[in-house]
Amino acid sequence: MPGLVVVGAQWGDEGKGKVTDLIAERADVVIRYQGGNNAGHTIVRDDEVYKFHLIPSGILYPGKLCLIGNGVVVDPKVMIEEIAGLHSRGVDTSGLRISANAHVIMPYHLLLDHAGEARLGKLQIGTTRRGIGPCYADKAARLGIRVQDLLDEKILRKKIYTAMEPKRQSLRPYAKDPALDLHTMTEEYRTYGHQLERFIDDTPRVVWEALDRDSVVVFEGAQGALLDIDHGTYPFVTSSNTVAGAACAGAGVGPRQIDDVWGIAKAYTTRVGAGPFPSELDDELGDRIREKGGEYGTTTGRPRRCGWLDLVALKYGARINGLTGLVVTKLDALSGIAELGLAVRYKGPEDAEFEEFPYHQTMVHKARADYEMLPGWEEDIGGARTLEDLPQAARNYLDFISDFVGVPIVLVGVGPGRDQVIWTGADSERYIPAPAAPEAA
Ligand code: IMP
Repeated sequence: MPGLVVVGAQWGDEGKGKVTDLIAERADVVIRYQGGNNAGHTIVRDDEVYKFHLIPSGILYPGKLCLIGNGVVVDPKVMIEEIAGLHSRGVDTSGLRISANAHVIMPYHLLLDHAGEARLGKLQIGTTRRGIGPCYADKAARLGIRVQDLLDEKILRKKIYTAMEPKRQSLRPYAKDPALDLHTMTEEYRTYGHQLERFIDDTPRVVWEALDRDSVVVFEGAQGALLDIDHGTYPFVTSSNTVAGAACAGAGVGPRQIDDVWGIAKAYTTRVGAGPFPSELDDELGDRIREKGGEYGTTTGRPRRCGWLDLVALKYGARINGLTGLVVTKLDALSGIAELGLAVRYKGPEDAEFEEFPYHQTMVHKARADYEMLPGWEEDIGGARTLEDLPQAARNYLDFISDFVGVPIVLVGVGPGRDQVIWTGADSERYIPAPAAPEAA
């Protein structure tokens, strides 16, 4: 012990990568436990920009153990590219481990993702088209290829044949695609196996050993609570469980190994892809937040839909994750807006009112948020390092969030820089990085 789970508390893109990067300094192990390269985050370190889709950002600390857990779906091509990109910039990847039991995204998964969305037409989910859903579907159907299969040509060929056969119908438009030739595919994925072999490991055991020697282990979630396949706005969700509970199955630890669960939420709300969004601002104010917050996807470059902070959804996210701490990111993006809306209830058809996030999809789709309006602030807050440095209106805004959700705020983001954060002093001492060394004269 201790184990800390970091999850997205909204619809993803809350800034989990930056938070994980900060606390990774004090951790021995960082492990991803679900999702795949549908996720993405950008880390700025010593003026260098690093973009990650699979590898935990902890990799920038030399030798830090960075694990891809069994619950992740791995596109080996993307993985190898990320490793090569790090090597070319002199980053040490000796701490990287990939679970032998993680499932592999295959070329037919990518094609099925594209075909599935095309078939849905106007009803499409807006997936990242990275083959995530079809790969998890094969895992559940027991037709999946696992990372360990890449090491055995005979098994690999047999499994690819068995998995590809039932998809012939859906893949008919791609019948002539050379990527779907059994022999070529087996050869290609066997080569990936060779390239990844030295990273493949029994990751649950690595985690267990770290916890056993009392090291800090960070379980890094991807996407967010409302994209969870069970608890999110189904079917407009991703294909894995994104809630904190998934850290146990996806990393191979028991619930008693988790001490803290931090939910990351932006000071406003965004969503990419289709699906309900009760506090969406489909107007100039939404555009302004998008520009100020740089709300364009790291993975697909898509503009994100923006809206006021939805506290009904955030409180729900806090409940289904069992949050012990809340991190509020990008507070600076709200500077200069006279009045700030906070969604405190939903209004549904026939004057229905919802204080809690409704379980019924029709209600969520038709719900419009009802707001508490709080005064905003004019000041640039990028230089604030303590709560006292913030304008009173910004502190009131944070207090309102914490009181409503019933979870203490542990950390506030006030700018893109690594140092542009405020540790509030709430129960977080063991995770706070060492103060930056003074600049050399
Ligand atoms: P998939 O995960 O690619 O299947 O996409 C399913 C839904 O989840 C789509 O609405 C995506 O936009 C959304 N999604 C997947 N990954 C992320 C992410 O990392 N951030 C935000 N949305 C995501």
